[in-house]
Amino acid sequence: MKIKILFVCLGNICRSPSAEAVMKKMVADAGLTKDIFIDSAGTINNHEGEPADARMIKHGKKRAYHLDSISRPIQAEDFEKFDLIIAMDYSNMEDLQRKCPQPSYLRKIQLMMSFSDAQHEEVPDPYFGGEQGFELVLDLLEDACKGLLDSLVKLSK
Ligand code: 4NP
Repeated sequence: MKIKILFVCLGNICRSPSAEAVMKKMVADAGLTKDIFIDSAGTINNHEGEPADARMIKHGKKRAYHLDSISRPIQAEDFEKFDLIIAMDYSNMEDLQRKCPQPSYLRKIQLMMSFSDAQHEEVPDPYFGGEQGFELVLDLLEDACKGLLDSLVKLSK
């Protein structure tokens, strides 16, 4: 059975498209592309139809990540379709909990950094900050995606 993972941030142009790209590369490198479906969405629709932020694409490219997602807001059906809905920060998590159409789906909503041992609880929004914010996003996502993949592999054994 294919496990389906949806990464979610606010605008779906910086953090969750990066999480999607990082996780897709890690999953491909592990030979698991056919077992894990990965997508991303935002909690708002302000950037719907737009590619990822040019700054985020540039920083991702430096690490060989290909950010090709187009921004879309999360839909009620996503809560049914996906097995894991992973929020980048507490605010995203609260928005997701509010939008969740069924109490039984609430357990699918998890915090990205809960898959990491790093000292950060959230993946901070880089949108209004400088270059180092985009590098931090990638550092944290690489760490958390590794933890997420390890936990999925353990579960499947
Ligand atoms: P993201 O970053 O949630 O990581 O995609 C942001 C994108 C857009 C805005 C804020 C954060 N915005 O205010 O439009």
